[in-house]
Amino acid sequence: MNRQVVYLDNAASTPIDPEVLDAMLPWLQGIASAGNPSSIHSVGRAARSAIDLARESVADLISADFSEITFTSGGTEADNLAILGSANAEKRGRSQVATTAIEHHAVLNAVHLLEDRGWTVNTVQSDRTGHIPYSEWGTAISEQTAIVACMHANNELGTMQDIRAVVQAASKVNATVHVDAVQSLPWVDLNVRTLDFDLCAISAHKIYGPKGIGALYIKQGCSVFPLLVGGSQEREKRAGTENVAAIVGFGAAARLLKGRRAEDAKRVALLRDRLIQRMSNTLSGLRIHGGEPMLPNIVNFAIVGVEGPTLLMNLDREGICASSGAACSSGSIEPSHVLRALGCSSTQAASGVRLSLGRTTTIEEVDHVVDTLQRIVERLQSRG
Ligand SMILES: Cc1ncc(COP(=O)(O)O)c(C=O)c1O
Repeated sequence: MNRQVVYLDNAASTPIDPEVLDAMLPWLQGIASAGNPSSIHSVGRAARSAIDLARESVADLISADFSEITFTSGGTEADNLAILGSANAEKRGRSQVATTAIEHHAVLNAVHLLEDRGWTVNTVQSDRTGHIPYSEWGTAISEQTAIVACMHANNELGTMQDIRAVVQAASKVNATVHVDAVQSLPWVDLNVRTLDFDLCAISAHKIYGPKGIGALYIKQGCSVFPLLVGGSQEREKRAGTENVAAIVGFGAAARLLKGRRAEDAKRVALLRDRLIQRMSNTLSGLRIHGGEPMLPNIVNFAIVGVEGPTLLMNLDREGICASSGAACSSGSIEPSHVLRALGCSSTQAASGVRLSLGRTTTIEEVDHVVDTLQRIVERLQSRG
């Protein structure tokens, strides 16, 4: 791969930290890699201990109890398990779910499956800055609401929701609250005790751990039926032989994150501010999407008259990795549902570009990206 790459797509995925890789390697080679945590012999018991340690570390990161962490194949499965698993466990005969228009597709498509099964979905709208006004929850939640699903931070914009307000609204009718914290975990202290929701999805590859491993926090006493059945792994919440190396990597990434998150967030916020400031000074037709409260690392923007994919392709040619919320399907650009929810037109919603900084981003990279953007935008704008 080109050594000159400037990677500003950390909200999509982060590189594996060398310490995480070191922790994983012993579980990917030799006899240790054979260890099945369900086996009672020494090799199996060693794998079980490694998983226990990782579970302890992940639980500690979010102030949960060891027994409240269920490992999954990632954030997507954790979101699916939360929503479909608690719908399947619903005993009160309720059949409504409340969620937001700006959720990740892992939540939106799980909720659509419930809709196909006859559930009613009440979708709360975002304001123009990417936040859900508290009053919206009042109308979306009723005595029939079984589940309320709200993301902590949005993956396209970085905007953060007031989870305490969501829990407060849901508790009036005793609805189960699921929080997708996949994007906030790398930057924000997430304490499940003080926030007091029931379920929470997190993912390792956003915190410098491996892909294909995540977890669902399930508060003690909250009932969730498994999506995968078979053996009794993960206290019968998720059958299948555990991916020991990936779980170990998740644990190592969680320990590392705990020690450095506050510092990283402070440093990256300064870089983000510099990025926005310099972009505002140099790019004509710049529009920044979203507004505080926000994660420290995401800048979502559009340049009037410049298509997002064209800008992304030009950045990529210059070795700069960024992304867009707009998906390409069947050769045409699907506008971002998040930008649409903010009131952007289809054209505007297809023009959004996301720069997401990470713990390794430098001031030189930020300045280089702005200089390159200025050159590209001037060239594209001069072509009319
Ligand atoms: C907010 C949010 N939820 C869920 C997911 C899915 O996580 P995973 O990639 O681990 O399946 C993502 C991934 O980008 C995300 O940003």
